Amino acid sequence: MNKIDYNKLFKNVIPNSIEGIKIFSSSDKYIKPQEFDSVTNLENRIWSELYQNLELLLDQYASREYLLGLRTLPIPNNMFPNFKAISPLLENSTSWTLIPVAGFLDEELFFELNKDRKFPVTDIIRRSPRFEQKYLNSDIKNARGYTPEPDIFHDIQGHIPLLMNRKYADFMWEIGVLGYEIVKNKRNLTHELVNHNLKRLQNFSWWTYEYGLLKSSRRTDKFRRVSNDIPYEIYGSGIISSLDETKNIIDCSKGKASRSKFLKYDIEEIVLTCFDYSDIQDRYFVIDSMEELYSSFSKNKNLFFYEG
Ligand SMILES: [Fe+2]
Repeated sequence: MNKIDYNKLFKNVIPNSIEGIKIFSSSDKYIKPQEFDSVTNLENRIWSELYQNLELLLDQYASREYLLGLRTLPIPNNMFPNFKAISPLLENSTSWTLIPVAGFLDEELFFELNKDRKFPVTDIIRRSPRFEQKYLNSDIKNARGYTPEPDIFHDIQGHIPLLMNRKYADFMWEIGVLGYEIVKNKRNLTHELVNHNLKRLQNFSWWTYEYGLLKSSRRTDKFRRVSNDIPYEIYGSGIISSLDETKNIIDCSKGKASRSKFLKYDIEEIVLTCFDYSDIQDRYFVIDSMEELYSSFSKNKNLFFYEG
Protein backbone atom coordinates (compact mmCIF):
# COMPACT_ATOMS: atom_id res chain seq x y z
CA MET A 1 0.00 0.00 0.00
CA ASN A 2 1.25 3.49 -0.81
CA LYS A 3 1.98 5.67 2.15
CA ILE A 4 -0.49 8.52 2.42
CA ASP A 5 0.95 11.90 3.14
CA TYR A 6 -1.55 13.31 5.63
CA ASN A 7 0.74 16.25 6.16
CA LYS A 8 -0.56 17.69 2.88
CA LEU A 9 -3.47 18.88 5.02
CA PHE A 10 -1.18 21.34 6.75
CA LYS A 11 -0.76 24.92 5.64
CA ASN A 12 2.02 27.42 6.28
CA VAL A 13 4.52 24.56 6.16
CA ILE A 14 7.98 25.87 6.92
CA PRO A 15 11.04 23.68 6.95
CA ASN A 16 11.93 23.85 10.65
CA SER A 17 14.77 21.68 11.68
CA ILE A 18 15.89 20.82 15.15
CA GLU A 19 18.84 18.93 13.80
CA GLY A 20 21.83 19.05 16.09
CA ILE A 21 19.71 19.58 19.21
CA LYS A 22 20.32 17.04 21.91
CA ILE A 23 17.05 15.26 22.59
CA PHE A 24 16.56 13.24 25.77
CA SER A 25 14.19 10.31 26.08
CA SER A 26 13.05 8.32 29.12
CA SER A 27 15.94 5.87 28.72
CA ASP A 28 18.49 8.72 29.05
CA LYS A 29 19.67 10.29 32.25
CA TYR A 30 17.37 13.25 31.68
CA ILE A 31 16.96 14.50 35.25
CA LYS A 32 19.62 17.03 36.08
CA PRO A 33 19.33 18.85 39.42
CA GLN A 34 19.72 22.60 39.30
CA GLU A 35 23.22 23.70 40.21
CA PHE A 36 21.94 26.70 42.10
CA ASP A 37 25.09 27.25 44.16
CA SER A 38 27.31 27.49 41.11
CA VAL A 39 25.31 30.08 39.18
CA THR A 40 27.80 32.71 38.03
CA ASN A 41 27.55 36.49 38.18
CA LEU A 42 27.43 36.55 34.42
CA GLU A 43 24.46 34.16 34.35
CA ASN A 44 22.65 36.29 36.92
CA ARG A 45 23.40 39.37 34.81
CA ILE A 46 21.94 37.73 31.69
CA TRP A 47 18.83 36.78 33.68
CA SER A 48 18.50 40.33 35.08
CA GLU A 49 18.79 41.93 31.68
CA LEU A 50 16.22 39.62 30.08
CA TYR A 51 13.83 40.06 32.99
CA GLN A 52 14.19 43.80 33.48
CA ASN A 53 13.88 44.60 29.77
CA LEU A 54 10.49 42.90 29.82
CA GLU A 55 9.27 43.75 33.31
CA LEU A 56 7.30 46.92 32.64
CA LEU A 57 5.97 45.73 29.30
CA LEU A 58 4.63 42.54 30.84
CA ASP A 59 3.11 44.47 33.70
CA GLN A 60 1.21 46.49 31.10
CA TYR A 61 0.35 43.78 28.58
CA ALA A 62 0.46 40.30 30.11
CA SER A 63 -2.75 38.51 31.07
CA ARG A 64 -4.26 38.59 34.53
CA GLU A 65 -3.45 34.91 35.15
CA TYR A 66 0.19 35.57 34.39
CA LEU A 67 0.51 38.68 36.54
CA LEU A 68 -1.18 37.13 39.55
CA GLY A 69 0.95 33.99 39.29
CA LEU A 70 4.15 35.98 39.01
CA ARG A 71 3.36 37.93 42.17
CA THR A 72 3.03 34.82 44.25
CA LEU A 73 6.28 33.14 43.22
CA PRO A 74 9.90 33.81 44.17
CA ILE A 75 11.06 34.64 40.65
CA PRO A 76 13.56 37.45 41.27
CA ASN A 77 14.25 40.14 38.69
CA ASN A 78 17.97 40.23 39.38
CA MET A 79 19.15 36.65 39.83
CA PHE A 80 18.45 33.06 38.89
CA PRO A 81 15.35 31.61 40.52
CA ASN A 82 15.79 28.59 42.75
CA PHE A 83 13.68 25.65 41.58
CA LYS A 84 13.48 24.30 45.11
CA ALA A 85 11.86 27.51 46.33
CA ILE A 86 9.30 27.59 43.50
CA SER A 87 8.26 23.97 43.19
CA PRO A 88 6.58 23.52 46.61
CA LEU A 89 4.53 26.69 46.13
CA LEU A 90 3.40 25.49 42.74
CA GLU A 91 2.59 22.09 44.16
CA ASN A 92 0.51 23.64 46.96
CA SER A 93 -1.49 25.68 44.47
CA THR A 94 -2.12 23.39 41.53
CA SER A 95 -0.27 20.10 42.20
CA TRP A 96 2.30 20.73 39.46
CA THR A 97 5.98 20.33 40.33
CA LEU A 98 9.16 21.35 38.56
CA ILE A 99 11.40 18.61 37.21
CA PRO A 100 14.93 19.82 36.50
CA VAL A 101 16.03 18.31 33.20
CA ALA A 102 19.13 18.20 31.03
CA GLY A 103 17.54 19.80 27.97
CA PHE A 104 15.10 19.15 25.15
CA LEU A 105 12.88 16.10 25.79
CA ASP A 106 11.26 13.87 23.21
CA GLU A 107 7.48 14.08 22.93
CA GLU A 108 6.78 10.82 24.71
CA LEU A 109 8.76 11.82 27.78
CA PHE A 110 7.47 15.39 27.74
CA PHE A 111 3.82 14.28 27.69
CA GLU A 112 4.46 11.52 30.20
CA LEU A 113 5.77 14.12 32.66
CA ASN A 114 2.96 16.56 31.90
CA LYS A 115 0.27 13.94 32.44
CA ASP A 116 1.73 13.54 35.96
CA ARG A 117 1.66 17.32 36.42
CA LYS A 118 5.43 17.59 36.20
CA PHE A 119 6.87 20.53 34.29
CA PRO A 120 10.38 20.04 32.91
CA VAL A 121 12.72 23.01 33.35
CA THR A 122 16.37 23.56 32.45
CA ASP A 123 18.87 25.60 34.46
CA ILE A 124 20.89 26.85 31.52
CA ILE A 125 20.45 30.37 30.17
CA ARG A 126 20.76 31.63 26.61
CA ARG A 127 23.99 33.40 25.56
CA SER A 128 25.93 32.03 28.56
CA PRO A 129 29.20 30.08 28.40
CA ARG A 130 27.41 26.96 29.71
CA PHE A 131 24.93 27.21 26.86
CA GLU A 132 27.68 27.71 24.27
CA GLN A 133 29.64 24.85 25.81
CA LYS A 134 26.75 22.45 25.35
CA TYR A 135 26.76 23.08 21.63
CA LEU A 136 30.44 23.59 21.12
CA ASN A 137 30.66 21.11 18.29
CA SER A 138 27.41 21.68 16.50
CA ASP A 139 25.77 24.72 15.05
CA ILE A 140 22.14 24.65 16.08
CA LYS A 141 21.35 28.28 15.40
CA ASN A 142 19.68 29.50 12.28
CA ALA A 143 20.88 32.62 10.44
CA ARG A 144 19.10 34.88 12.93
CA GLY A 145 20.67 33.22 15.93
CA TYR A 146 17.52 31.43 17.12
CA THR A 147 17.69 28.01 18.64
CA PRO A 148 14.89 25.73 19.81
CA GLU A 149 16.96 24.66 22.83
CA PRO A 150 14.92 25.56 25.93
CA ASP A 151 16.40 27.85 28.58
CA ILE A 152 15.64 28.76 32.17
CA PHE A 153 14.25 32.16 31.29
CA HIS A 154 11.63 30.77 28.94
CA ASP A 155 10.79 27.81 31.15
CA ILE A 156 10.51 29.66 34.45
CA GLN A 157 9.66 33.25 33.67
CA GLY A 158 7.50 32.35 30.65
CA HIS A 159 5.62 29.26 31.78
CA ILE A 160 5.56 28.83 35.53
CA PRO A 161 3.53 31.86 36.71
CA LEU A 162 0.59 30.70 34.57
CA LEU A 163 0.72 27.25 36.11
CA MET A 164 -0.26 28.84 39.45
CA ASN A 165 -3.77 29.26 38.03
CA ARG A 166 -5.96 26.25 38.71
CA LYS A 167 -7.90 26.23 35.42
CA TYR A 168 -4.80 26.86 33.32
CA ALA A 169 -2.93 24.16 35.24
CA ASP A 170 -5.71 21.67 34.52
CA PHE A 171 -5.71 22.65 30.84
CA MET A 172 -1.96 21.99 30.59
CA TRP A 173 -2.45 18.66 32.31
CA GLU A 174 -5.22 17.76 29.85
CA ILE A 175 -2.84 18.47 26.97
CA GLY A 176 -0.26 16.18 28.57
CA VAL A 177 -2.82 13.40 28.96
CA LEU A 178 -3.94 13.79 25.35
CA GLY A 179 -0.38 13.91 24.01
CA TYR A 180 0.50 10.76 25.91
CA GLU A 181 -2.58 9.05 24.50
CA ILE A 182 -1.55 9.95 20.95
CA VAL A 183 1.97 8.61 21.53
CA LYS A 184 0.75 5.41 23.17
CA ASN A 185 -1.58 4.84 20.22
CA LYS A 186 -4.14 2.51 21.75
CA ARG A 187 -6.28 3.07 18.65
CA ASN A 188 -3.61 1.38 16.56
CA LEU A 189 -3.31 4.12 13.97
CA THR A 190 -0.48 3.98 11.43
CA HIS A 191 2.85 5.53 12.29
CA GLU A 192 2.13 8.32 9.77
CA LEU A 193 -1.17 9.14 11.45
CA VAL A 194 0.38 9.19 14.91
CA ASN A 195 3.03 11.63 13.71
CA HIS A 196 0.41 13.68 11.93
CA ASN A 197 -1.71 13.88 15.10
CA LEU A 198 1.31 14.81 17.18
CA LYS A 199 2.03 17.60 14.74
CA ARG A 200 -1.56 18.80 15.12
CA LEU A 201 -1.07 18.96 18.88
CA GLN A 202 2.24 20.74 18.42
CA ASN A 203 0.52 23.36 16.22
CA PHE A 204 -2.24 23.76 18.79
CA SER A 205 0.28 24.24 21.59
CA TRP A 206 2.27 26.71 19.56
CA TRP A 207 -0.61 28.99 18.66
CA THR A 208 -2.13 28.88 22.14
CA TYR A 209 0.01 28.47 25.24
CA GLU A 210 3.22 29.46 23.47
CA TYR A 211 2.14 32.31 21.15
CA GLY A 212 -1.48 33.02 22.00
CA LEU A 213 -3.16 36.35 22.68
CA LEU A 214 -6.31 37.12 24.60
CA LYS A 215 -8.79 39.93 23.96
CA SER A 216 -7.96 42.57 26.50
CA SER A 217 -10.19 43.17 29.46
CA ARG A 218 -10.34 46.43 31.36
CA ARG A 219 -10.72 44.32 34.48
CA THR A 220 -7.07 43.35 34.29
CA ASP A 221 -5.99 46.98 34.46
CA LYS A 222 -6.41 47.08 38.22
CA PHE A 223 -3.47 44.69 38.44
CA ARG A 224 -1.22 46.89 36.27
CA ARG A 225 0.92 49.92 37.01
CA VAL A 226 -0.01 51.37 33.61
CA SER A 227 -3.25 50.58 31.74
CA ASN A 228 -3.09 48.33 28.72
CA ASP A 229 -3.46 50.47 25.59
CA ILE A 230 -3.79 47.70 22.98
CA PRO A 231 -6.74 45.36 22.31
CA TYR A 232 -4.82 42.27 23.44
CA GLU A 233 -3.36 40.65 26.51
CA ILE A 234 -0.45 38.28 26.23
CA TYR A 235 -0.80 34.78 27.64
CA GLY A 236 1.57 32.81 25.36
CA SER A 237 4.77 31.88 27.17
CA GLY A 238 6.89 32.14 24.01
CA ILE A 239 5.87 35.79 23.75
CA ILE A 240 6.24 36.48 27.46
CA SER A 241 9.87 35.38 27.41
CA SER A 242 10.78 37.36 24.28
CA LEU A 243 11.31 41.12 24.19
CA ASP A 244 11.26 41.19 20.37
CA GLU A 245 8.02 39.27 20.15
CA THR A 246 6.34 41.41 22.82
CA LYS A 247 7.43 44.65 21.14
CA ASN A 248 6.26 43.33 17.78
CA ILE A 249 2.76 42.75 19.15
CA ILE A 250 2.59 46.22 20.66
CA ASP A 251 3.89 47.83 17.46
CA CYS A 252 1.60 45.84 15.15
CA SER A 253 -1.47 46.54 17.23
CA LYS A 254 -0.67 50.26 17.33
CA GLY A 255 -0.14 50.35 13.56
CA LYS A 256 3.57 51.11 13.91
CA ALA A 257 4.51 47.83 12.23
CA SER A 258 2.69 45.47 9.91
CA ARG A 259 4.65 42.30 10.12
CA SER A 260 1.99 40.21 11.87
CA LYS A 261 -1.75 39.73 11.64
CA PHE A 262 -4.17 39.18 14.49
CA LEU A 263 -6.61 36.41 13.68
CA LYS A 264 -9.67 35.11 15.43
CA TYR A 265 -9.00 31.88 17.29
CA ASP A 266 -10.32 28.87 15.41
CA ILE A 267 -9.20 25.51 16.71
CA GLU A 268 -9.74 23.70 13.41
CA GLU A 269 -7.57 26.20 11.61
CA ILE A 270 -4.95 26.25 14.33
CA VAL A 271 -4.29 22.53 14.40
CA LEU A 272 -3.58 22.57 10.66
CA THR A 273 -1.42 25.70 10.68
CA CYS A 274 2.31 25.07 10.97
CA PHE A 275 4.74 27.61 12.36
CA ASP A 276 8.25 28.93 12.20
CA TYR A 277 9.94 28.61 15.57
CA SER A 278 12.91 30.61 14.43
CA ASP A 279 11.51 34.06 13.75
CA ILE A 280 8.97 36.59 14.98
CA GLN A 281 5.52 35.14 14.28
CA ASP A 282 3.62 36.42 11.25
CA ARG A 283 0.25 35.79 12.93
CA TYR A 284 -1.29 35.51 16.34
CA PHE A 285 -4.58 33.88 17.17
CA VAL A 286 -6.73 35.80 19.63
CA ILE A 287 -9.08 34.07 22.06
CA ASP A 288 -12.03 35.94 23.55
CA SER A 289 -11.40 34.46 26.98
CA MET A 290 -9.39 31.72 28.64
CA GLU A 291 -12.69 29.85 28.98
CA GLU A 292 -13.01 29.81 25.20
CA LEU A 293 -9.61 28.16 24.94
CA TYR A 294 -10.27 25.56 27.63
CA SER A 295 -13.70 24.57 26.40
CA SER A 296 -12.72 24.44 22.72
CA PHE A 297 -9.89 22.09 23.62
CA SER A 298 -12.07 19.86 25.79
CA LYS A 299 -14.78 19.64 23.14
CA ASN A 300 -12.54 19.03 20.14
CA LYS A 301 -10.16 16.27 21.16
CA ASN A 302 -11.27 14.28 18.13
CA LEU A 303 -9.19 16.71 16.05
CA PHE A 304 -6.09 15.07 17.50
CA PHE A 305 -7.15 11.54 16.62
CA TYR A 306 -7.49 12.02 12.90
CA GLU A 307 -7.82 8.65 11.24
CA GLY A 308 -7.37 9.61 7.59
FE1 LIG B 1 7.66 26.66 26.00
